[in-house]
Amino acid sequence: MSLRIQDLTLANFRSYPSFTVGDLGELTIFHGPNAAGKTNVVEAIQLLTALTSFRKASAAELVMRGATQARAAATITDGNRLLDLALTFDDGKRAYRLNGKPRSVKSLKGLVPSIIFSPEDLSLIKGSDSFRRQELDQLGTQVNANYYQITRDFEKVLRQRNRLLKDEAAPTLVDSLTEVFAKVGAQLTAYRKAMLTRITPHIMAAYADISGGERLTVEYHASWDESQDLAEALQGNREQERARRTTLLGPHRDHIVFQVNGMNAGSFASQGQQRSIVLAVKMAEVQLIEEMLDQKPILLLDDVMSELDAARRAAMVEKLLPETQTFITTANLDYFNEEIIEKARIIRIERSDPHSHPYQNQ
Ligand SMILES: Nc1ncnc2c1ncn2[C@@H]1O[C@H](COP(=O)(O)OP(=O)(O)OP(=O)(O)O)[C@@H](O)[C@H]1O
Ligand SMILES: [Mg+2]
Repeated sequence: MSLRIQDLTLANFRSYPSFTVGDLGELTIFHGPNAAGKTNVVEAIQLLTALTSFRKASAAELVMRGATQARAAATITDGNRLLDLALTFDDGKRAYRLNGKPRSVKSLKGLVPSIIFSPEDLSLIKGSDSFRRQELDQLGTQVNANYYQITRDFEKVLRQRNRLLKDEAAPTLVDSLTEVFAKVGAQLTAYRKAMLTRITPHIMAAYADISGGERLTVEYHASWDESQDLAEALQGNREQERARRTTLLGPHRDHIVFQVNGMNAGSFASQGQQRSIVLAVKMAEVQLIEEMLDQKPILLLDDVMSELDAARRAAMVEKLLPETQTFITTANLDYFNEEIIEKARIIRIERSDPHSHPYQNQ
């Protein structure tokens, strides 16, 4: 079974007073000049599928300037049934509805999975561990509801614990949270390791394929000495923690390391190798979702064609696009060969003045 977005409607979302597009097929290219609103559309689709925004946008940013309410909605089909999925923002509160009924994010995770690939993903290699952890969590939370719950529980207890440390609260108060922090923290690290173990062979195979046989390895390193459990490690680290007034050990400090031919990719990989690694990771994510959820994720390719050379573009088109509903944004159609252009529905996105009349783009 594969779910597809059939149509999409935006109201007061980002730069769009209103925007509707229907009869969406396998491949859609949003084409238009810079700042026209192409990424805004992709972000709306991501919010309706992965249920997060890669730009980590707040409600205030997602609602059109000057408005207090916004809506992004999609009709989703499995070939027979139609599902109505809507995200509304009302005075800063975001809420999802499925067929008119309020639904939690947790209950919707994995319903319509999606993978996004944007130029910002190059931070996966050069950026800090937080980018890599976030990428892994973004995948894990879509394929496993427990994983999602654990990330939520962990974020909550981390916030509480850090607030106490920041306020220099009594050590007994901090200690009272340490047990639950360590329990949830160790769980999250375990979920991450399991997910990484599962996806690594796919990443390695994809990378070997793209690079013509180079060896890529991916490793997860917990931030604490794992001969101890996390609670013990925190106990031994109390002085430093109190001095720095923040929680220094736990999954929020764990490391994910890519190595190419035995060398750390963050320090040594060339521009081209970095792009190949990111492409391999995305290909592997698509495979993993298919394997675990028995359906292909929707693919969101935001402006990546300009980042890839012709060979990598061809690899992406050949490996990623078939049978996957794909949305691509670009300012330049020259990156696409005739075959793609013929297959695609090209939707022109023009810059709009949000204060002019609402317009429809078909
Ligand atoms: N909440 C908002 N209210 C009004 N306008 C917004 C809001 N959020 C973003 N915008 C506008 O949307 C525009 C950016 O849209 P977007 O990022 O989708 O452009 P793009 O077409 O992807 O451009 P590029 O090709 O440069 O990536 C900006 O001009 C920005 O001012
Ligand atoms: Mg953009």
